[in-house]
Amino acid sequence: MTSLDPSMTRIVLFENIHPSAKEVFNAAGFDNVVTHASALSSEQLREAVRGAHVLGIRSRTQLDAAVLAEATDLRVVGCFCIGTNQVDLESAMLRGVPVFNAPFSNTRSVAELVLGEAILLLRRIPEKNDRVHQGFWDKTADGAFEARGKTLGIIGYGNIGSQVGTLAEAAGMRVIFHDVEAKLPLGNARATTSLKKFLAQADVVTLHVPGGKATENIMDAEAIASMKKGAILINASRGSVVDIDALNNALDSGHLSGAAIDVFPVEPKSRDEALKSPLIGKRNVILTPHIGGSTQESQENIGREVAEKLCHFLLSGTTKGAVNFPEISYQPTMGTARILHVHRNLPGAMGTLSNLMAEHGLNILSQQLQTKGQIGYVISDVEGKVDDTVVSVLRAHPITVRCNIV
Ligand code: NAI
Repeated sequence: MTSLDPSMTRIVLFENIHPSAKEVFNAAGFDNVVTHASALSSEQLREAVRGAHVLGIRSRTQLDAAVLAEATDLRVVGCFCIGTNQVDLESAMLRGVPVFNAPFSNTRSVAELVLGEAILLLRRIPEKNDRVHQGFWDKTADGAFEARGKTLGIIGYGNIGSQVGTLAEAAGMRVIFHDVEAKLPLGNARATTSLKKFLAQADVVTLHVPGGKATENIMDAEAIASMKKGAILINASRGSVVDIDALNNALDSGHLSGAAIDVFPVEPKSRDEALKSPLIGKRNVILTPHIGGSTQESQENIGREVAEKLCHFLLSGTTKGAVNFPEISYQPTMGTARILHVHRNLPGAMGTLSNLMAEHGLNILSQQLQTKGQIGYVISDVEGKVDDTVVSVLRAHPITVRCNIV
């Protein structure tokens, strides 16, 4: 396919992506949408990606280099989730395929859960709920506190952390945060520089940092010991950031009074696998299966957010928000055709491209270039006839990684 024909654009969506995505594609004229209710086995996946121009996945579909190599018609990938480490991003980039995700759509869902858990844990509701279910009536105010006036400590004051702070202030909590970057405090939140001093002040500590080596076990035995006696620890970020054995010991010793854990160092890969954790069965501990961001609203928002990014890319070449690609923002189309050209990021690439266009009678009206690592991406609006011959010439040139027309 040289230029984009929406009806011929094959979109394949895996893992039960919310129907809001299909609605967005259909409204933009893309009717050829195939949906799969789950992730496929690697053999089935390789078969399913052949002939696809767009792939939409969630966290369980692994798009590694081998799978991407099968997808020779692929133009763009949408991760209908936050994380993108299930995709070989470099391999996709080197094939000229941008990858998009939905970094903000479930922020509110996580923030609401965290505040709810903080309030329930301060009142020791998990263990009280458990006792009443067993027929006991332990009516007491011992160890039960209001959230009002308590200090919430947020580690990682990004999209989610800052929303948690805003909600917590509305419930009358005092908010402090610790971040490795300088962040504008919202409301009356206050930044703290020393993690140790921060931990010593907070009645509830909640983590909202990225995963990876830099944040591994930031809540280790020493950090947990620095928390106030009777404090509460909440982690809905990544399983690697809390030393679970140290947390377990702190709960056993009574140093911490409760915890809520949504993410685990090792998480079951499917519903059929059991979770293994020393925290199972502990009083005043809320355990949830990585559902911090999983609400109907967030799924719908994610479906819409990613599908819109994919449509913008397909219809205008814009790559704003792509995680592995030079980013070019939307510009209105000029001239008779728009050429999307991905090339090796080498000296003279732009000159070569412009010369090739000129040799085929194309007058460049507007050009936007961005580079990232090994590739450059240029959107050219041209006047003139962009036929199959021109496109073949552009595609065949050694600097070209990919060339499409919209
Ligand atoms: P973000 O990137 O907007 O914010 C992360 C913040 O952490 C940034 O402000 C960054 O400067 C800060 N940070 C990084 N390293 C730090 C360190 N060592 N100490 C203190 N601060 C540090 O990320 P966002 O969107 O707020 O997500 C936060 C976490 O929540 C991520 O790990 C994400 O994977 C997780 N998440 C979990 C969900 C769930 O279902 N439980 C759903 C959505 C996101």
